[in-house]
Amino acid sequence: MARCFVTRELPGSDLERLREAHEVEVWPEPRPPTGDELRTGAADAEGLLTLLTERVDADLIATLPRLRAISNFAVGTDNVDLAAASERGIPVGNTPEVLTDATADLALALMLAVARRLCPAAAVVREGRWGPWAPDFMLGRDLHRATVAIVGGGRIGSAVARRLEGFDCRILVAGRADRDGLAELVAEADFVSVHTPLTEQTREMIGEPELRAMKRTAYLVNTARGPIVATAALERALREGWIAGAALDVTDPEPLPADHPLLEAPNLLVVPHIGSATHRTREAMARIAVDNLLAALAGERMPHCANPEAYERPS
Ligand code: GLV
Repeated sequence: MARCFVTRELPGSDLERLREAHEVEVWPEPRPPTGDELRTGAADAEGLLTLLTERVDADLIATLPRLRAISNFAVGTDNVDLAAASERGIPVGNTPEVLTDATADLALALMLAVARRLCPAAAVVREGRWGPWAPDFMLGRDLHRATVAIVGGGRIGSAVARRLEGFDCRILVAGRADRDGLAELVAEADFVSVHTPLTEQTREMIGEPELRAMKRTAYLVNTARGPIVATAALERALREGWIAGAALDVTDPEPLPADHPLLEAPNLLVVPHIGSATHRTREAMARIAVDNLLAALAGERMPHCANPEAYERPS
């Protein structure tokens, strides 16, 4: 039996499987543990199950001498120092595939919502400002037959592209390494949708040059990670009309405080990181996160490991 620290209750019943096999402590609060609370809770843990809200950095890993496995309840692992974990031979699990479709669905929802002005239109009704039908009222822009630039052609980007085929869209794809030339690519697009993981290579990949290159009638959608888009540049782009609008499921910082200047910018829709937030998807993520931890603690390979190089080093 290994001691495991889990940083939140998870949807579904999969944590029971972990409890049957190991001694499990679950962080009891709905808020994330602070760095100190995480350090204390995980102090003698062999297994750690974390959310993307926890920073599992090299310092933390160095203070957990018994740690043998980290399972992250997310596909992204930018909150975990993979190099430091690999150095110690600690595998880091993630939850790919099961959240691809839910996240792609949300990207489409955001494209349609921002371009068809759903939130301002709904506010008109609620606020009693719904006047007679008028030819020029609440005009937006079409997603059907639009040119869409997908930044990051992995699983989620490809799922978005498949959906957009049904909208007769023209799809352009930029890989995460294609920073040079990205401005020229996005200049052709009516929508730019971001789907790369956050790495040092992709940080602020959508910055002032890319936003300035976009059409004034184009929209930016980000369902990946906030820091891939330069927040200050996006704020200026919206205020100064370099682009028509933006819809974000992720922001930098996150959570975005209610008084953050970005929220004052026009034509912006922000939702609170809900890309994978469906019952079925979150339960599937919990299943994989527990499978990853159980496998590693049993001395087997994690079914979904973000740092396979960890297995090449002595544990
Ligand atoms: C969510 O953002 C995830 O990485 O799973």
